[in-house]
Amino acid sequence: MKRSLTRIPAALAQLNFKPFPKPGKNPAAGALTMDDLRLLARRRTPTAAFDYADGGSYSEETLDRNYRAYRNVELVPGILRDVSLVDPGTTVAGTKFSLPVGIAPTGLTRLMHADGERAGAAAAAKYNIPFTLATMGTMSIEETAAAAPLGTRWFQLYLRQDRALSLEMMRRARAAGYDALVLTVDTAVTSTRVRDARNGMTLPPTLGVRTMLDALRRPGWCLDFLTTPPLEFANFADDPGNVSAQFNTMFDASLSFVDLGWVREAWPGTLIVKGVQGPEDALECFGHGADGVVVSNHGGRQLDRAPVPLMQLPAIRAAVGPEKLLIADSGIMSGGDVVAALAAGANFTLIGRAYLYGLMAGGQAGVERTLEILEREIRQTMALLGVRTLDEFGPRHVRLGTADA
Ligand SMILES: Cc1cc2nc3c(=O)[nH]c(=O)nc-3n(C[C@H](O)[C@H](O)[C@H](O)COP(=O)(O)O)c2cc1C
Repeated sequence: MKRSLTRIPAALAQLNFKPFPKPGKNPAAGALTMDDLRLLARRRTPTAAFDYADGGSYSEETLDRNYRAYRNVELVPGILRDVSLVDPGTTVAGTKFSLPVGIAPTGLTRLMHADGERAGAAAAAKYNIPFTLATMGTMSIEETAAAAPLGTRWFQLYLRQDRALSLEMMRRARAAGYDALVLTVDTAVTSTRVRDARNGMTLPPTLGVRTMLDALRRPGWCLDFLTTPPLEFANFADDPGNVSAQFNTMFDASLSFVDLGWVREAWPGTLIVKGVQGPEDALECFGHGADGVVVSNHGGRQLDRAPVPLMQLPAIRAAVGPEKLLIADSGIMSGGDVVAALAAGANFTLIGRAYLYGLMAGGQAGVERTLEILEREIRQTMALLGVRTLDEFGPRHVRLGTADA
């Protein structure tokens, strides 16, 4: 073989070799997977804030099982199906979305990144998927609506002890164009998150020197935190008392199906009950007027050793029949996971941490990166499975493993 040193520049040009990233490029742009975004999020966000998003309750066994259950799935392809055109779009409660994915409600979102809900709502609108604002959100119902006026908005409700306050929130959400109310019912009491307790992420906060020094190692986050409006539960910032006092009136351990009936009467739009974990409760929710349920264990943040939603889906689908709206969350970190949930019986999915990792990694551009990765993975997985539209999915496409290690 004849060698020539003069060929080096041409060879490098052929490889399109670029030693440095373009200045001003968003750090999330290079992420290829949700794991990449998670690592970036951890680097850019103080441990206390990162752990608040990343962690689960008690031993975090449910959190681990959620992920393991998805990893242990087998997806079974069909061949020679002409998948030159694949459409991952779907319709939920009369609205057509471009992907079978919505953004789940998360509280304290501006702790993760100063742009918080504004970034999530704007990215969701760009991808034509719904954004769910949490009762405990850090931007108000009205501010979030203004951030993405053309996007689809859902509002997550914690039915507070003072029902008049909840009615007022429903009224505001309706007036600000939120289509669906997502009533969360798996928080009769709050659970214990050990990482948060260790990091001093309590109400009121009990931050120690270690936590503060750790935060100083993320100067970008600190600058944002110190120079942007303070963190607050923006939907009831005017309520009496400080944040801790407000938090203590958030959950009502006396909730029952009678209250679900009450919400049904009070809310004229789509009503979705979030936190259902078994067939009987799903049937009961539909019997009390719900239009859909989210099969969820709150991302492993509430009852530890709760069932994994993915594993519950086939039984819940069999119980409620083919027409009812089943949304799945908890553990979804890839397009393959979304596809597995759909094949196991869900019509739609929600992402919590996958959204927050993108947000922490790069603000709105980071959330868009999350959605871009999911879209690519969903489209590729559909094509490789031989599926063109979501209604072609069925149990034949998925073999659930176990949630065990
Ligand atoms: C940081 C964080 C805050 C959350 N806050 C709420 C909340 O205020 N209301 C609610 O219904 N669910 C809340 N959730 C649960 C999510 O809506 C969703 O059920 C869960 O994140 C799905 O699991 P995944 O994170 O594995 O996708 C929260 C989840 C996280 C990670």
